Amino acid sequence: MSAVPYRVENGVAVLTIDNPPVNAASRAVRVGIVDGIKQAGADASVKAIVLIGGGRTFIAGADIREFGQQLQPPHFPDVIDALEASTKPVVAALHGTALGGGFEFALSCHYRVAIASAKVGLPEVNLGLLPGAGGTQRLPRIVGAAKALDMILGGKPIGADEALKLGLIEQIVAGKTQPELEAGAIAFARERAAVAGPHPRARDRVDKIQGTDPALFDEVRAKNAKKWAGRLAEFKIVECVQAAVEKKTFDEGSAVERDNFVILRASAQSKALRYAFFAEREAAKIPGLPDDVKPREIKSAAVIGAGTMGGGIAMCFANAGVAVQMLDASQAAIDAGIARVRGNYATSVARGSTPQDRADKALGLISTTTRYEDIAQADIVVEAVFEDMKVKHDVFGALDRVMKPGAILATNTSTLDIDGIASSTKRPEDVIGTHFFSPANVMKLQENVRGAKSSAQTIASVMALAKTLGKVPVLAGNCHGFIGNRILYVYGRECDFMLEEGATPWQVDRALQAFGFPMGVYLMRDLAGLDVGWSVRKGREATRDKSLRYSPVADRICEMGRFGQKTGAGYYKYEGRNATPDPEIEKLIESVSVELGVPRRAVTDEQIVTRVLSAMANEGAKILAEGIAIRASDIDVTYLYGYGFPRHQGGPMFWAEEQGLAKVLETVQRYHAEQGVLWTPAPLLVERAAAGKGWTG
Ligand code: 3HC
Repeated sequence: MSAVPYRVENGVAVLTIDNPPVNAASRAVRVGIVDGIKQAGADASVKAIVLIGGGRTFIAGADIREFGQQLQPPHFPDVIDALEASTKPVVAALHGTALGGGFEFALSCHYRVAIASAKVGLPEVNLGLLPGAGGTQRLPRIVGAAKALDMILGGKPIGADEALKLGLIEQIVAGKTQPELEAGAIAFARERAAVAGPHPRARDRVDKIQGTDPALFDEVRAKNAKKWAGRLAEFKIVECVQAAVEKKTFDEGSAVERDNFVILRASAQSKALRYAFFAEREAAKIPGLPDDVKPREIKSAAVIGAGTMGGGIAMCFANAGVAVQMLDASQAAIDAGIARVRGNYATSVARGSTPQDRADKALGLISTTTRYEDIAQADIVVEAVFEDMKVKHDVFGALDRVMKPGAILATNTSTLDIDGIASSTKRPEDVIGTHFFSPANVMKLQENVRGAKSSAQTIASVMALAKTLGKVPVLAGNCHGFIGNRILYVYGRECDFMLEEGATPWQVDRALQAFGFPMGVYLMRDLAGLDVGWSVRKGREATRDKSLRYSPVADRICEMGRFGQKTGAGYYKYEGRNATPDPEIEKLIESVSVELGVPRRAVTDEQIVTRVLSAMANEGAKILAEGIAIRASDIDVTYLYGYGFPRHQGGPMFWAEEQGLAKVLETVQRYHAEQGVLWTPAPLLVERAAAGKGWTG
């Protein structure tokens, strides 16, 4: 059975791609299209050809799973040659998402039609690739070089309306369904067949690229130099579009695209980004949940606590169209909270990231109260109050009294024991962690934390909720700090020790930023404020294990009244938001080294990165073995979406696997010998390294 069934209707050959779920252009699809075009060419009764997706979408791109393997013919250029060489007009009929190689196939058809809900785009950059099937050459020829750069570098699909305006499609077909699209496309194809050929080909056009400002390409590179530091694909994309404009022939430009695509496909960055794509989708799947478990419907929500976090979470619901009530103890707290939310919307409207009407609509969905009785009918309530078990007990006791049966009782705690919180209710099966990241309305991660008694339905409901809110969910088990903050603790700890051993905060930050983190750990701490962590540490001081190494540097900085950016000084000195290294802090750190008897030595940037990531992977291995994370890739997803881990590096567990677990173990063992118990190798790391395996292999 062909992956592209062929039939003739009313003199038009219809090639229907049948490769669920997204009709990716796997080898069978490529074979089917080439064969179909050949068959149609040879059939005298056929006057035109329609290429259409079966099911929910046109082709959503190359089959990403094939990129790791030896590619089998026919290759993309072979399919494109076949489409373009057809003397009978070929019409691409688009619905769903026509993306990447799929959209490139469409661009090499003579005509394109779509239904109004269709989206088209070239998102390859998100996978560390460039459009390698002629997209960098044909798109500029249709929309001009500047717009093509915009679309390819942005990687975001556009709607049919905009595509029509840009001349990317010829017609929006009436109707909403695939059969309606097909009927419209057949009628369109018959019309075009009646017109004498040759039919238009994007490759033959020069009108939109002639007269391109030659400075455009350097300007784009210069404008994005900082954002693209260390990345490959973006620069290659600019090079290819420039070739489309500057090379004498289409084929010369295409050769530049081909060569660069091959380089990117083989690159470590693209491998990491492709891994991240699948890791994100995998994280949503929870083994062991009964097949028939149905998430509870969430039509209304309540958030307890109108602070920064509570307000951000309320915005998440409102942005997703879910009515939400914000509850706080006093009217003053409510007023301050709602003012902050309004301010956030005003800022995003001013920045142009949210249209005014959407902001108004979202604000209209947020209401406030000081009384628990008012939120009783909410389908879910998310608690975001102070991180203190006593306070949490009070809140959950109150929720247990008022909330309707079946309401989900969620906590946004970032460290505390979910079972402890659940114990203040008589319905621990409805209690679960939904840990959002600050700013909650921006950060994509939703770290859901299951308690010992959280029901399958409660788990399924918060996993589904994340999708509704446009978040990426990961399911963690219950331990101090869960996945994210437990590893963050180790990450920060090792940075602090390196300060005592000879590094400076600015060197650590620079090394981490060169690796790809948007912000180093000390700039981050200064931004978040140092006082909260200090107060937590003071609270735990009595119970801290004094036999373990502890760095007092952060405490000393707080004792100086330096709480970070908000006080004008922390690890760095600040003028507004501008951080500068502070010799006073360097002196302080040196005095701590002397006091603790830690010899100072030169620490290299490479040692900083290797030490931090090895420590993270070692802790990750423990988390994995304890079942706190379901898969190594869930730890990576947590870091990619919650902690700014550079996506093109894949995540700490991916990094470790790429290094080779044996090599990582060697580093861990070396630090274990030097630093002692905090570096005890994770048994799982030892086991996998000995077996010569990765985390899953
Ligand atoms: N190749 C292989 N599998 C793919 C795929 C692809 N291009 N796109 C999606 N899938 C798989 C997903 O992994 C998922 O599998 P699972 O059910 O086993 O987890 C399934 O299809 C459904 O995907 P989503 O869960 O993402 O479904 P959504 O409906 O939320 O989104 C989508 C659909 C918008 C098409 C989204 O999947 C997507 O963005 N896909 C990637 C598109 C893309 O990047 N295309 C370019 C590829 S590179 C290329 O074409 C190179 C060319 O220039 C030569």
